[in-house]
Amino acid sequence: MRYLTAGDSHGPGLVVIVDGVPAGVPLEPAFIERELARRRAGYGRSERMAVEREEVQVWGGLDRGLTTGAPLGILIPNRAGPRVAGPEAYRIPRPGHADLAGFQKYSPADLRPVQERASARETAARCAAGAVARRLLEEVGVRVFSMVTGIGAVAVEVPRPEGTDPDWEDLASRAEASPVRCPWPEAASLMQEQIALARAEGDTLGGTFLVVAAGLPPGLGSYTQADRRLDGRLAGAVMSIPAIKGVEVGLGFAAASLPGSRVHDPILPGLARPTNHAGGLEGGVTNGQPLLVRAAMKPIPTLPGGLPSVDLVSGEATRAPAQRADVCAVPAAAVVAEAAVAWELARALLERYGGDRLQDIRAGMGR
Ligand SMILES: Cc1cc2nc3c(=O)[nH]c(=O)nc-3n(C[C@H](O)[C@H](O)[C@H](O)COP(=O)(O)O)c2cc1C
Repeated sequence: MRYLTAGDSHGPGLVVIVDGVPAGVPLEPAFIERELARRRAGYGRSERMAVEREEVQVWGGLDRGLTTGAPLGILIPNRAGPRVAGPEAYRIPRPGHADLAGFQKYSPADLRPVQERASARETAARCAAGAVARRLLEEVGVRVFSMVTGIGAVAVEVPRPEGTDPDWEDLASRAEASPVRCPWPEAASLMQEQIALARAEGDTLGGTFLVVAAGLPPGLGSYTQADRRLDGRLAGAVMSIPAIKGVEVGLGFAAASLPGSRVHDPILPGLARPTNHAGGLEGGVTNGQPLLVRAAMKPIPTLPGGLPSVDLVSGEATRAPAQRADVCAVPAAAVVAEAAVAWELARALLERYGGDRLQDIRAGMGR
């Protein structure tokens, strides 16, 4: 499977072509819309989120509610309308955004084309592609969830499966009901307070989140070549989401400071694993345990007060212009990461079980 996206943040909309989807996967446009709505949600987003109403059109690739094996063309109209910022918004690069990098790379007349495409609006198209992958995974009993584990200075202890696994489905449904996608109510309300405070102070926040995939068969991915390792593919997919600056699998960075006896998951008769510090991957291959991928997002680069910058026309020191922006988008980034993880898992699934028809994949998996 492969996909490509096109479209601008304030143009007519986004388009994504999803190619290589097996035939026979039940898929409704409403399912894709639901995933886009999940991405739009979350406390701390900009007022644009109240304006957008993703109603997708699917061109081709579907017949009577089932995928046909042909490419799907998914169109997502923008409702935000044209940009309202004055011309100075396109002369002064925002520190931490892609403005200066895009100016140095493509020499645009002003920063507008950079901002149109570097905007995280593009991740709506990724979520649409991810929704197709998710539908396929659901058909074979694989479910992908996410939960926010930190916002600003508020961080929760990540559940480390010792003995019994946490009830991921229960945590996921509680995350779904939380305005900050955090299933632990005390931490969730502290996170909301942090966001409200940052908003009042004209600042922005980042945070961390966990993506979990349950129901995976062992044997997805391979250690035989670098580019077939599923850990590397997942890390690349999640790191490619704007503002993601760190990705870890299982214990991740915490494993570096622990002795091996406390890190590696014992293998018991029946090939049972009493712990899941590896986060479901050994040798870049799934081991049948839940997949645990955690990521860190930096704070939003657009600050209401503007950070120190330079006017690219005059060369004078100034401040970056105020623009409509999220205060915190960690809950939304977690949903985008679900899509990225679902996409890579679906690809790995097709590599192992064949990619023409859902029924063949099911038969190969015995599901
Ligand atoms: C879901 C989501 C929403 C975002 N919203 C904003 C925003 O409103 N304003 C902003 O300046 N950056 C926002 N960002 C972050 C920028 O897109 C990102 O920092 C920028 O593209 C530069 O990429 P980099 O941070 O990976 O270097 C958002 C990111 C995500 C994933």
